Amino acid sequence: MTPEAKRLIERLDGGERLTAEKFRRLLEGSDKESDALLREKAVARRKAVYGNAVFVRGLIEISSYCKNDCLYCGIRRSNRNADRYRLTEEQILACADEGYTLGFRTFVLQGGEDGYFTDERLVPLLRELKRRHPDCAVTLSLGERGKESFQRLFDAGADRYLLRHETATKAHYQTLHPPEMSFDRRMNCLRDLRAIGYAVGAGFMVGSPGQTAEHLANDLYFIQEFQPEMCGIGPFIPHKDTVFANLPAGNVEMTCRLLSIIRLIKPNILLPATTALGTIHPRGRELGIQAGANVVMPNLSPADVRKKYALYDNKICTGEESAQCKDCLNARMRAVGYEIVVSRGDAAPVASRKS
Ligand code: 5AD
Ligand code: FES
Repeated sequence: MTPEAKRLIERLDGGERLTAEKFRRLLEGSDKESDALLREKAVARRKAVYGNAVFVRGLIEISSYCKNDCLYCGIRRSNRNADRYRLTEEQILACADEGYTLGFRTFVLQGGEDGYFTDERLVPLLRELKRRHPDCAVTLSLGERGKESFQRLFDAGADRYLLRHETATKAHYQTLHPPEMSFDRRMNCLRDLRAIGYAVGAGFMVGSPGQTAEHLANDLYFIQEFQPEMCGIGPFIPHKDTVFANLPAGNVEMTCRLLSIIRLIKPNILLPATTALGTIHPRGRELGIQAGANVVMPNLSPADVRKKYALYDNKICTGEESAQCKDCLNARMRAVGYEIVVSRGDAAPVASRKS
């Protein structure tokens, strides 16, 4: 470990802000030893704020239709091989009811940007979901919408919104998305969500095509400045029917390194060990938790649609029943000394750095 890397880790752990340039130096100066130090500090911060608790979110993949054509994504509109489906309101509510029985107190409704799910359809669904489960948080992950729409969905009961920024570098964003998609619009959506009062989740892929240490440094700097309540990061994994089919996937080491750094940037952030991380390594989610993550998001979607919601190849948990996934994750978390809790899992108040 270089003296500079050590110093930067200590500064981060002390609550100091870093420039993008320093984040780049930290990433470029990383080695096994600095990763171990990052992990140790990140886990200590995470334990000070959340103890051994791991929050669960029940993920309900409501639609695989998408009007967008993101170059990396398996459900992009130009993928003629994608098997499309959308769940009915009854199916979504049934998933949530089952999830509630299993101990979930947060439901994440995720889907492609599907024109079918208008405010007129989503508002009654959200109201009914909240009527049945008033003690639960509802998170939406439905892509970009107008500010009025975000507001209506918030007023109908949505608490949180996940919208990964994908990359904080505009030029890089443009190489991952078709010309009609806009980096500025994406960033504006995040600001709108924040202004309305949602708990906001940003995030990015690790090892996405063309990504450099400088891009990742910009992502870290963005997280530090925007201070999202949540941050979803996982490795890029190629999907066979996309432009990026033959490119290499992101790796576990870099993903875990970034999880640790993000934990230090914002000790109370809600940070999932993602399904993508579990896909590239058999113990990926455990490694994520051991690097400072504190959330897991098992799949609550009906078993018969899981394979169809394929953003990337070889996704795990596409065959299991919801109860099996929950039990499996319970056992996995216990095995590494953590405990899944029955709770909405809101962000803890900001802790003092004095520990
Ligand atoms: N590999 C990994 N993550 C992907 N996502 C989309 N396609 C892929 C892929 N091929 C991520 C994006 C999106 C989230 C829902 O899934 O970051 O925001
Ligand atoms: Fe789904 Fe392990 S979490 S099978």
